[in-house]
Amino acid sequence: MPVLVRLLGLLLGLLLTTLLGVGLAAGVAAPAQAAPGSDVDVVAHRGSSGAAPENTLAAVRLAVQQRSDVVENDIQRTRDGELVILHDTSLARTTDVEERFPDRAPWNVADFTLAEIRTLDAGSWFAPEFAGARVPTLAEWGDAVGRRTGMLLEVKNPSLYPGIAADLDRQLDALPVFRAALRADRLVVQSFDHAWLRTYDQVAGNVPVGLLFAGGPPTEAQLADAATWAEQANPALGDMTEATVDQIHSHGLETHVWTVNDGQGMRRAIGWDVDGVITNYPQVLRDILRRG
Ligand code: G3P
Ligand code: CA
Repeated sequence: MPVLVRLLGLLLGLLLTTLLGVGLAAGVAAPAQAAPGSDVDVVAHRGSSGAAPENTLAAVRLAVQQRSDVVENDIQRTRDGELVILHDTSLARTTDVEERFPDRAPWNVADFTLAEIRTLDAGSWFAPEFAGARVPTLAEWGDAVGRRTGMLLEVKNPSLYPGIAADLDRQLDALPVFRAALRADRLVVQSFDHAWLRTYDQVAGNVPVGLLFAGGPPTEAQLADAATWAEQANPALGDMTEATVDQIHSHGLETHVWTVNDGQGMRRAIGWDVDGVITNYPQVLRDILRRG
């Protein structure tokens, strides 16, 4: 065998042995430990509402751009039955409705048509650069969240809107962006009104639901019941301890804690192994999670 060929053979063998060695070493190495908090979802509260006007498409798009895992927003219903994205029962706090319609106090969403609401400025109250932002419809919201990010939809004051369970079910069924989210297990509907949520769950059996809690942690009885039909139990951070998280998990439920806007609270919740942290500052939470 010519010397050159033998030399090449030796080099090839050496290379293969090295590669094999690396592969074997990698193969026998202990499985990598998940970084603390690596499975905690960043949930943008009312969109990225610390930096853009809550419940507008600007806040939703910013949340997506900031790599939030989930975007949380609120639903109300107009006089003509359209589902829109807004936190309060009234339009007064987050739009210019008082100036535009001075004789229509208390400016409840339920007293205005979608066409009227679409003329309102939902951005100027927050900062001048958001002037002209509109109150989005649920369909527009779905398109803005898109096909990669999770959706957490809170139905506000459902007792004010008879039939809203069926309205929401129809829309989630009709629009491809929501059907895709449901197929990918990326959409949850939550509410503080547990009786309504139970009804909704019976109407929309394919939609995962979450119970919001205020004024204290969930009781053992509430969790035992929720475990038979819901997927999430979501209390406020101030109402929880690590034991609450363990208790919720012991019932097979997830917990997304709200609304955590300071680094200390975020670290506390991450340390408790919550499933998601709901925050106005998704970028801050993302940075904390990345730094570990
Ligand atoms: O998602 C939890 C949180 O949104 C509940 O509070 O009043 O901001 O809707 P609120
Ligand atoms: Ca909410």
